[in-house]
Amino acid sequence: VLHTPEQGGDHPMEHSNYLVYHGLLLPRAVHSQDSLQYAENFQVQDEDIFVVTYPKSGTTWMQEIIPLILSGGDLTPVHTIPNWDRVPWLEETRTSLVIDKMRCPRVFVTHLPYHLMPRSFFSSKAKVIYVTRNPKDVAVSSFYFHKMASFLDDPGLFDKFLNKFLSGQGKRKKSGLKVTMIMVVTFIPIIISQQMSFVCFFFFLCLVLFGKWTDHVKCWRNLDLGDRILYITYEEMLQDLKGALVRFSRFLNRELTLEALEKVAEHCSFNNMKNNTMSNYSLVPEDIMDSSKSPFLRRGVSGDWKNHFSPEQEAKFSAVIKEEVKGTSFKFPWDEE
Ligand code: A3P
Repeated sequence: VLHTPEQGGDHPMEHSNYLVYHGLLLPRAVHSQDSLQYAENFQVQDEDIFVVTYPKSGTTWMQEIIPLILSGGDLTPVHTIPNWDRVPWLEETRTSLVIDKMRCPRVFVTHLPYHLMPRSFFSSKAKVIYVTRNPKDVAVSSFYFHKMASFLDDPGLFDKFLNKFLSGQGKRKKSGLKVTMIMVVTFIPIIISQQMSFVCFFFFLCLVLFGKWTDHVKCWRNLDLGDRILYITYEEMLQDLKGALVRFSRFLNRELTLEALEKVAEHCSFNNMKNNTMSNYSLVPEDIMDSSKSPFLRRGVSGDWKNHFSPEQEAKFSAVIKEEVKGTSFKFPWDEE
């Protein structure tokens, strides 16, 4: 499933865990130029379903839920197919390998921003479920994920990680003309010697996985998708999973019987998923994902950020997010906290 970063060459980029795609940082372990091109040209069918998330917002949970809604509560798919093949990431390398085995309606997860969806998506009737999670909990979850996944860079100190998470690619945008000029002048000798990869390597330092949280959330709002898109939050799912299942099943025109609803909700509880080898990543070798450092299904709660953020970090984080969503009509369950 996962391959280690390509070795060889003297350029820093070639040793990096990441590749950059339209300004987004993606782990090489599961993405390649081919997989990204495959996604760009993917032929979306009207019946397709896309679950869209910013990383660490409940993707794996949805890979469990949606197949069970489509199967009417039959647990076979989640007991026999690993989550990455059951509901593959559109942009990752597995999709092209499993696509022929997928049955209609096909379900995909994706972390892609709206504008990078396949061209055929825009003219299709494919449905989208967009899951948002409190960015503070996303940051904490992401921090631990960076610790346990050897194909991602070590997150370093939490404070530094938080700053990077908040700034995303913003550092570059905000730096303005002056800093851009300084950088161009600094890098002229390198550019001239055609060592462009060193320049790109410098930019890596400013990037976070799949870009900034606020950019992702904003780009998937106010779209022309009408009733093709359903928005839900991780916190709503935690608070009332059965209610969320009803919303999903109505949206997908697959209403569940009461018995099936109970069964799906029971199976998709955090503890049951933690024990499902097809979903808890225990099939991945420990040198790639080390659950002794942090399990993939780690805590599964809302508000864990309170155990990690200092008052100063909280104030800064809230202020930055507030500023960046200013002018939008976003209302999230965590706004009241
Ligand atoms: P934590 O690290 O906070 O525990 P993704 O799948 O997008 O990478 O998100 C992973 C996060 O979703 C992890 O959060 C994981 O524990 C949580 N998660 C996965 N399945 C869950 C479930 N059934 N109930 C609650 N949280 C779940």
